[in-house]
Amino acid sequence: MNGARPKILVGDKIVDEALEMLRAEADVDVRIGIGQPELEEIIENYDALIVRSIPLVTEEVIRRGKRLKVVGRAGNGVDNIDVAAATRHGVVVVNTPDSNSFSAGEHTIALMLASARNLPQAHQTVKDGGWGRSRFMGNELYGKTVGIVGLGRIGSFVATRLKAFNMRVIAYDPYIPLERFKRFGAERMETLNDLVRQSDFITVHTPKTEETIGMIGMEQFRIAKKGVRVVNCARGGIIDEEALAWALKEGIVASAALDVFTKEPCTGNPLLEFDNVVVTPHIGATTFEAQHRVGTDLANYVLSALKGEIVPNT
Ligand code: NAD
Ligand code: MLT
Repeated sequence: MNGARPKILVGDKIVDEALEMLRAEADVDVRIGIGQPELEEIIENYDALIVRSIPLVTEEVIRRGKRLKVVGRAGNGVDNIDVAAATRHGVVVVNTPDSNSFSAGEHTIALMLASARNLPQAHQTVKDGGWGRSRFMGNELYGKTVGIVGLGRIGSFVATRLKAFNMRVIAYDPYIPLERFKRFGAERMETLNDLVRQSDFITVHTPKTEETIGMIGMEQFRIAKKGVRVVNCARGGIIDEEALAWALKEGIVASAALDVFTKEPCTGNPLLEFDNVVVTPHIGATTFEAQHRVGTDLANYVLSALKGEIVPNT
């Protein structure tokens, strides 16, 4: 950072301690919820941009960021950043993929239990003065088979916790060695459809890529066990939303628990009409612990990248 202090634009909330770390070495403007047109207009003034899942860091943003050197993603998924365009323009993209895995993994299991036991519906009934216990008949996890799609950081965290529930854990992930399945006590499935056919619960933990969009779709729901329960705490659209709505209507899927949606914020989504769909507003990483780690780790990485130093986890 030769001489002049760099300028950093922060486009979404990060913890105060992280802001203090940035301010110690740079001039920082915090513009939470900045709109796309405004971002495109002012980005030329900044050396670094920090975002969460919004705003979108499009090619246009990167092109207009004439002095932009770093885009920092406060979190894991970089699907809201045009990484290829950033690379073409010599802009480093840094994220914090390890910092919120525990929270996302725990939220996955919370969603699984909440939907298997109708917790939100039962909670609301009691709050409304009702009771009606028999309406809330659920399923145990004990002895069931869970299919984990993507055995990376979060998928493996979920696998080891669900083993403690006495579940049979099967997993599909064509990009990792057999040793990793063994390490996390998961049986390796040769194909996605092998996993789908055997699972009582399916939980997806892949990144959102061209290959994974809609990977749990009509074909999979047609061969799934009747009464399967599905969880998506990864990215909206990995479980195809239209196909899921069809499978819920057909009674193939007993419940779905979703933290993420194809379009966020999620309003007017037909899946919201189903009583057996449990939803949360993309809060997988919304814990004090995760946000503290995400913010402070990212501040370190962004400052290092601005100095031209090696940055881990990019
Ligand atoms: P990771 O990169 O550690 O693991 C992803 C795994 O998916 C890898 O092992 C990879 O081999 C596998 N994979 C890739 N393509 C696949 C395919 N076609 N079929 C099967 N497996 C495939 O990622 P992670 O840190 O575990 O994150 C998983 C997901 O969770 C990401 O989508 C991430 O954005 C999301 N996430 C969500 C929240 C939240 O708040 N809901 C928080 C953190 C992460
Ligand atoms: C992530 O990718 O880290 C999560 O979706 C959580 C977040 O965006 O805060």
